[in-house]
Amino acid sequence: MEPVNATIIYYSATGTVHALAQAAAEGAEKAGARVRLRKVAELAPPEAISANPAWGQHLQDTADIAGASLDDLAWADAVLFGTPTRFGNLASQLKAFIDTTGGLWREGKLADKVYTAFTASSTAHGGQEATLLALGNVFYHWGGIIVPPGYTDPVQFQTGNPYGTSHVAGDGPPDDVVLQAARYQARRAVDTAAALKAGRVA
Ligand SMILES: Cc1cc2nc3c(=O)[nH]c(=O)nc-3n(C[C@H](O)[C@H](O)[C@H](O)COP(=O)(O)O)c2cc1C
Repeated sequence: MEPVNATIIYYSATGTVHALAQAAAEGAEKAGARVRLRKVAELAPPEAISANPAWGQHLQDTADIAGASLDDLAWADAVLFGTPTRFGNLASQLKAFIDTTGGLWREGKLADKVYTAFTASSTAHGGQEATLLALGNVFYHWGGIIVPPGYTDPVQFQTGNPYGTSHVAGDGPPDDVVLQAARYQARRAVDTAAALKAGRVA
């Protein structure tokens, strides 16, 4: 059987969600998927970016990562979305990309794929679940198959977020446990997509 195609589409201003996205890419590759790691376009004005040195630095550091396209969605059997929590919601940069998918949606090309999401916030109660559930609204509209990590692996009892991998950026960069959770979430998405693919072939 053809391997699963997995696309990871993320936005990150200062690198936290990028680190989770990279871990997810590792997990998906290790699970046997062909992987595309894609960032969405930065839309913030230069004056906002230059007000935060970490933001400008991250933009430079990730200049070589390809931008997300509609083909990256159409190609995928499993799609993982990553976004910082912004006022308890997804970042507008990611939403702007999602809002270009009307054509694919109309053609039914976003349905029946596996979807899952991860996030970061500054504080522990800053709205991580709200952000992941907000992305879930999009997946419902697309007719997606939502595959959350739940408590299906021991690492989930350490990170404690069944909705999707999440990190409290205010505590510092993602540690080994949260990176492991991101790898696990990707593996679970790829394994589920592989089972669906095999079932459809049969
Ligand atoms: C406009 C804005 C809104 C934010 N809203 C929240 C929020 O609601 N809750 C929270 O805990 N952190 C909030 N944050 C902090 C971000 O979630 C945090 O900086 C981000 O997760 C770091 O991810 P990144 O390094 O990938 O950009 C906000 C940050 C910005 C700039």
